[in-house]
Amino acid sequence: MRFGYFDDKNREYVITTPKTPYPWINYLGSESFFSLVSHRAGGYCFYRDARLRRLMRYRYNNVPTDVGGRYFYINDGGDVWNPSFAPTKAALDSFECRHGLGYTRITGERKGVRAGLLMLVPPGHTAEVHELRLKNTGPSPKSLKVFSFIEFCLWNAYDDMTNYQRNFSTGEVEVERGGATIYHKTEYRERRDHFAFYSVNADVAGFDTDRETFFGLFNDWSAPDVAAKGASSNSVASGWQPVASHGLDVNLAPGEEKTFVFTLGYVENPRDEKWEKPGVINKTRAHALIEKFSNPEQVAAAMKALADHWSRLLSNYSIESSDEKLNRMVNIWNPYQCMVTFNMSRSASYFETGIGRGMGFRDSNQDLLGFVHLVPERARERIIDIASTQFPDGSAYHQYQPLTKRGNNDVGAGFNDDPLWLIFGVAAYIRETGDYSILDEQVPFDNDPKTKVPLFEHLKRSFNYTLNNLGPHGLPLIGRADWNDCLNLNCFSETPDESFQTTGNRTGRTAESVFIAGMFVGVAPDYAFLAEKLGFADEAKKARGEAAKMTDVILKHGWDGEWFLRAYDFFGKKVGSKENKESQIFIEPQGFCVMAGVGVEGGQAKKALDSVKERLDTKYGIVLNNPPYSEYHVELGEISSYPPGYKENAGIFCHNNPWVIIAETVIGRGDRAFEYWKKIAPAYLEDISEIHRLEPYVYAQMIAGKDAVRHGEAKNSWLTGTAAWNFVAISQYLLGIRPDYDGLRVRPCLGGEIAKFTVTRKCRGAEYRINVKNSGKGGPAKLTVDGKPLAGDLVPYAKPGATVIIDCEA
Ligand code: BGC
Ligand code: NOJ
Repeated sequence: MRFGYFDDKNREYVITTPKTPYPWINYLGSESFFSLVSHRAGGYCFYRDARLRRLMRYRYNNVPTDVGGRYFYINDGGDVWNPSFAPTKAALDSFECRHGLGYTRITGERKGVRAGLLMLVPPGHTAEVHELRLKNTGPSPKSLKVFSFIEFCLWNAYDDMTNYQRNFSTGEVEVERGGATIYHKTEYRERRDHFAFYSVNADVAGFDTDRETFFGLFNDWSAPDVAAKGASSNSVASGWQPVASHGLDVNLAPGEEKTFVFTLGYVENPRDEKWEKPGVINKTRAHALIEKFSNPEQVAAAMKALADHWSRLLSNYSIESSDEKLNRMVNIWNPYQCMVTFNMSRSASYFETGIGRGMGFRDSNQDLLGFVHLVPERARERIIDIASTQFPDGSAYHQYQPLTKRGNNDVGAGFNDDPLWLIFGVAAYIRETGDYSILDEQVPFDNDPKTKVPLFEHLKRSFNYTLNNLGPHGLPLIGRADWNDCLNLNCFSETPDESFQTTGNRTGRTAESVFIAGMFVGVAPDYAFLAEKLGFADEAKKARGEAAKMTDVILKHGWDGEWFLRAYDFFGKKVGSKENKESQIFIEPQGFCVMAGVGVEGGQAKKALDSVKERLDTKYGIVLNNPPYSEYHVELGEISSYPPGYKENAGIFCHNNPWVIIAETVIGRGDRAFEYWKKIAPAYLEDISEIHRLEPYVYAQMIAGKDAVRHGEAKNSWLTGTAAWNFVAISQYLLGIRPDYDGLRVRPCLGGEIAKFTVTRKCRGAEYRINVKNSGKGGPAKLTVDGKPLAGDLVPYAKPGATVIIDCEA
């Protein structure tokens, strides 16, 4: 069942009912100011850090779901409704929400009034702009009382929801232009140099800034006093809960339309310019921002800038084919999600509260893989930030805080896959850009400027970290966990409330990871190549030798007969083996070892992938492990804490499905690879939205596995490494267009379903048009470059500005 449709021309998903199975959201902003906005106008915005600089209050896990947002109450002769349906839930004659790239447009109509609400964060600005268009679509004049409403968060979102003994006494506002601009200045009197404001470009009939006055003591969101009365109370908050509401009297003749522009802005003042006079904030910067969005033409210009921005970004990789679902994933939604994951890491979504986690070392490096072709310069900056949190021994903080860029001590280090991801990230950046100078960039350890060394030295320490931490079989030690955060082989946790990952109570050097071994082999060629490039021939040679050795170790100690083992536990017992009662096979090492080429020659790779097909594949995607753990195993950790079929205990982790997809292309089975991809690619799941439940335009981290009570139901959409890895899988391996160090590799492998397609790829300043005739037979493709046959599949990079036409018979 569908709840909307794709409008590809406008690059929008159009939701046609407010009653989707879960709030379906969008993100606004792509630099420093961000908003989450649901199709019912729920959500919140923040400046840089969702925890520390949150402007709007939002209530997670509430009843009903999705409480808090930018709400417009319309009182039409006593009939009160919202164009966004929520919070009044008054029935609408028509409803539509268009989530586009960086904006959301909600239109609701009731009893002859159509209200269109456009929300965007204009590029380059720290504000959310709301344009409200009210049109009288009926035969008689309308006299509407309209009330905007947002609730301020007291900045620190964690404190905001816990520390009421203090917070109820701190709230402060200022009101200007008779209430047309409302300033939220809680804590500005002391250490904050920032404030927020909510402003409208019209004279107001009244305003409110005190929540209790706006709602009345006993009402809920569906029936605020002010909206019901049809008149603002001009309340000025003092303590308690500051809000901002404008009251507008809007008279509309039949057919008449009026437009209002609201700006919800964030302003920082230099310390010595904080005050206009004692107690009164300096509003100069706020006024300038308000000026910029004081009429619909300015909003239209911002929309145009936004559209141009996205057209430019998306033109770096685009496809034309007969499969519209494939096209919309590759051309629009997957790169869009990659941008969002790059910006947000795992901080703020409708499943992540924005107060818990910083930027992940492993997460951010993976996010880069799907983002680097969009804005390489930002990927470069990110790499430096991430590498600056590494320790001299090559290990790394698992997370860092985006605002301070400091490593997070609560979580610390010890996730032994982390260091290797840095090499993946840097390699992807250099393949995209050819910018080897990044390797010479001076980067500190643990942000201590005295310890700066060239970035390449960080890669070296990453690589050697694995080598310095090998276990009894010569496989890498797993530490607190590897990619699978929930396989905690050194933490025997018996006490509720302690962290499965960080309560490290076993310090033995036995537990080993076959997955990290696969990563090591996979990343070694890049590392060796970069070492060679810098003239470190010995290091390159050593790396290749170590990778060959590790390959042997995997085949000797990491091979279970029909598939790759997952790990050895603290006691040296096998994990993910036919010898186990449960979880005999895991997805991760099958994907990563084959991607790295392990066992391709000897036939183990094919066997491993056949085992995946046989034991892990389901109609909704590939589960992580099988059979699931049916009870808690203290020596395995969080993985066995989940009921069978959910999350890391045999859920369909959409993040690692693409590893198997890529692996299938490595052994030339494009048909199977494409089948796997279509099972989890959201556009193909639109028809089963009632089962899948989440947005059909973005990937979710997890879909409940075959052993789950609710098989097929997705959770945790948006912020997941799934976005980047699936973009890599589809764009670089299935469609097969992959930037390499010295040229663009063209090697499609997606089976025979799509007979022909054209990819346009911009890379290093040139444009490549690749016309593929696809028989699906597999094997090397025949290439012609600008009319001349080319041996092999590496098209040398052309000069910036050039257009290269490539014909490919695959
Ligand atoms: C989740 C993992 C997540 C980890 C991060 C676990 O509870 O299941 O998916 O990566 O927490 O802390
Ligand atoms: C989510 C985390 O963000 C990611 O780093 C991890 O690899 C997966 N969960 C699997 O546990």
